[in-house]
Amino acid sequence: MTVEPARAALIDGKTFSAALVERVAAAAARLNQAHGVQAGLAVVIVGEDPASQIYVRNKGERTLGAGMRSDTHRLAETTTQAELLSLIAGLNTDAGVHGILVQLPLPAHIDASAVLAAIDPDKDVDGFHVVNAGRLAVGLPGLVPCTPLGCLLMLKDQLGDLSGLHAVVVGRSNIVGKPMAQLLLAESCTVTIAHSRTRDLPALCRTADILVAAVGRPEMVRGDWIKPGATVIDVGINRVPSLDPAKAAEGKTRVVGDVAFAEAVQVAGRITPVPGGVGPMTIACLLANTYVAACRQNGIAPEPLDA
Ligand code: GUN
Repeated sequence: MTVEPARAALIDGKTFSAALVERVAAAAARLNQAHGVQAGLAVVIVGEDPASQIYVRNKGERTLGAGMRSDTHRLAETTTQAELLSLIAGLNTDAGVHGILVQLPLPAHIDASAVLAAIDPDKDVDGFHVVNAGRLAVGLPGLVPCTPLGCLLMLKDQLGDLSGLHAVVVGRSNIVGKPMAQLLLAESCTVTIAHSRTRDLPALCRTADILVAAVGRPEMVRGDWIKPGATVIDVGINRVPSLDPAKAAEGKTRVVGDVAFAEAVQVAGRITPVPGGVGPMTIACLLANTYVAACRQNGIAPEPLDA
């Protein structure tokens, strides 16, 4: 008789995010009925980047699907920074707009950090403004970046109390790695942030109860980097050539994470697949942030949205 190696439980982000969107939509409907406030999200896109066009269309459809107001501002590639800042100034003072998201990347002639800094922090549903980064760091209520927020919600759903667990976050970006580490610290994890200069990264990762991979390098985290039974959150979305050489020659691609899934699934206790893990949580958290922002701008306490 052969003994099959243990296989990790898959963390189903599709199902979990659908349930979160339902809770947000129900809470937003109650906000509208009880207070006459329809939560509204404005998305701004500059230029014609095809991937960004798809993301923005999707955000608009999902916002409407949750019963919220959705405004999409499509600006030409040649839009000046001054024109974009003027649009943001108008959205900042529009009482029907509670969330503002400027789709990145912006064209090279626009200073993205100046644009993000111009968004009212209370409407910054991306959580990218330095004021929101600061609020997160010192434990004040603010708006938290959507992808790490989604990861945290999945971890709490899977593991319950996270206190005392060693979390290793691989990646130090402002969008994922740093806020992820802050969120885990706030849950009383012992947190290590690792990055490209970290010495003996595999050995460090093997000490993690929670391993979050957010580096943007396809399948970098191998199975033997994982402590048996650990919970692995794979934030990576990387396009690589198809496994079939004929299809690869035609330019066909497939999506893989930052974790070598086939190896990791044999070692981890729980793992997010790619696709279908973290990815669907990001837009659900964007809707959740828009709802929370709408409540706070009207002096109303948001309903808790965790399951
Ligand atoms: N481009 C790709 N992902 C994102 C995101 O989460 N927010 C914004 N603003 N732009 C993006």
